[in-house]
Amino acid sequence: MLGIETSCDETAAAVVRDGRDMISSTVATQAERHAPYGGVVPEIASRAHVELVTEVIARALVEAGVDLFDVDAIAACHGPGLAGALLVGVSAAKSLALVTGRPYVGVNHHEGHMYAALLDDPTLEPPFVTLVASGGHTLLIAMRGHGRYETLGQTVDDAAGEAFDKVARFLGLGYPGGPVIDALATRGDPEAVAFPRPMLDDGFDFSFSGLKTAVVTYCRRHPDLDVADIAASFQAAVVDVLVTKLVRAARSAQLDTIVIGGGVAANSGLRARVAEEGAREGLRVVVPGIGLCTDNAAMIASCAFYRLAADGPTPLDSGVRPGLRL
Ligand code: KG4
Ligand code: ZN
Repeated sequence: MLGIETSCDETAAAVVRDGRDMISSTVATQAERHAPYGGVVPEIASRAHVELVTEVIARALVEAGVDLFDVDAIAACHGPGLAGALLVGVSAAKSLALVTGRPYVGVNHHEGHMYAALLDDPTLEPPFVTLVASGGHTLLIAMRGHGRYETLGQTVDDAAGEAFDKVARFLGLGYPGGPVIDALATRGDPEAVAFPRPMLDDGFDFSFSGLKTAVVTYCRRHPDLDVADIAASFQAAVVDVLVTKLVRAARSAQLDTIVIGGGVAANSGLRARVAEEGAREGLRVVVPGIGLCTDNAAMIASCAFYRLAADGPTPLDSGVRPGLRL
């Protein structure tokens, strides 16, 4: 399976065998192009994908040691994401499908993030509970089987990654905010400021907008603050809410495996805490490698293998679906 991912600001391609075996994975990040604007600029993203996609696909094939005609099917993320950005990957995948006569498979980006764990741990099989935390979404899902998802909770306002990015922007730390806050937090005191843990005891939904406002309000009142302490205290609050709900969801769904995915799952504090809490609760914990958590095409190719087996090819006249839900 050749997979292509262009939903946001990474241009990625990968070759995966049988949904589990990652043979190659290439990611060209556009972060520096968007950094001056403090966030992803859709038109810049689309143009960069157009410029990069052919080379990235070629590199994935060369690194896998395969020819285009060795590939059995071609997949692309068709949503959710930026319409113009999605169009580049979907058009590339459909063109290659037409040229080779192979099936095309359109993949949901969130579903892709869930499959990253199956690439990381070849013995992992559903059912399990998974937390997908990215720049656009925060989802708590019981994956009962391939293609069988029960949404247990989601954000009611900002996504977890969006909160990292907005707090970083407010603190003048640049874009993307998650990695900068993560790095700063290692030097700060997570107990310096007791930021709120929104909706901690209230079901499985999340809310991060009030936490962001709490950080902004605190910083305005304490101009002499240590920015590393703010980063560590903010990160501790986000991680506390995410991990508490993930573990509680596993108990409630009576499942003994917890999994994380999405860009925020690259966070060192989250990775450590989920391993710690999972072990304490006697749960199996799967924390995919960082390159599988942030946007990549291997997760798209892995998911596409199972989608193709269950549903068959996606028609070539189906378009991009920027607002696609799970
Ligand atoms: O999954 P992803 O790469 O793209 C989307 O689907 O959105 O997630 C990107 C998000 C951004 O908000 C970024 O700040 C966040 O993931 N992120 C992190 C870390 N690395 C990326 N957040 C916290 N800690 C990190 N180390
Ligand atoms: Zn993503």
